[in-house]
Amino acid sequence: MNPSPIGIFDSGYGGLTVLREIVQLLPQYDYLYLGDNARSPYGPRDFDTIYHYTLECVQYLFGQGCPLVILACNTASAKALRNIQQLALPKIAPDRRVLGVIRPTAEVIGQFTKTKKVGVLGTVGTVRSESYLIEIDKFFPAVEVAQQACPMWVPLVENGELAGPGTEFFVKKYLDELLANSPDMDTLLLACTHYPLLEPVIRQFLPKEINIVSQGKIVADSLADYLRRHPEMAGRLSRHGHRHFHTTGATEDFDGHASLFFGAAVRSKHVEVAHF
Ligand code: DGL
Repeated sequence: MNPSPIGIFDSGYGGLTVLREIVQLLPQYDYLYLGDNARSPYGPRDFDTIYHYTLECVQYLFGQGCPLVILACNTASAKALRNIQQLALPKIAPDRRVLGVIRPTAEVIGQFTKTKKVGVLGTVGTVRSESYLIEIDKFFPAVEVAQQACPMWVPLVENGELAGPGTEFFVKKYLDELLANSPDMDTLLLACTHYPLLEPVIRQFLPKEINIVSQGKIVADSLADYLRRHPEMAGRLSRHGHRHFHTTGATEDFDGHASLFFGAAVRSKHVEVAHF
């Protein structure tokens, strides 16, 4: 097999906040980003649908040659990753790997808190899966985790509504609910790759002493570590510094929004993934 890019997947634009950090840390590799914008958001969907959509997207990226795919989406990591790794991969591509964003985050989140109380904001799917409760408990059993679902945030971000009274209303609403449940938390994890775009508004309504942790840098560090530990995988990755962007949605929408998430101009290609 020829050396090929690393696949980065998200339901929409959120994964670009992760890709941005990965590219900064590991600029030498090629990356193929796939946003399933036509079917986003995934957050409110049921388990089977998220699994089915995510698997189609992973197979699309495999079809493009990617030996390694990162699910840069908490909802897909929470709802689909385990089944993809355990059930699908052995049948469809035993020599390829799919990694998520929840475990690398759970491995380090305890280092950020002094009060041992962490707030986790995510989509309904991520929160209902309880993946963060389970994973953080494995690494930091003394840390108490309070979760809050923020169902309006992904639609706001996907539609470019990053500020203004409507956005402020919904940011404050979910933060107030979380703070009422966990008044002593000193660390707030943005456990959805879309949420870093709302960080300025979140900061406005969050007590100053609470740290905000987003995942881009954490996932990038974890990928670098994975590639150090798996030279056989690193050797299968192409290294020309190329970045390609595919979307199941409209390219004019993707290109208009994506630069905000990625921090640089983006030219995407429209693709269909649902025929696999
Ligand atoms: N970016 C996805 C996440 O991290 C959110 C997605 C969605 O609801 O589509 O959970």
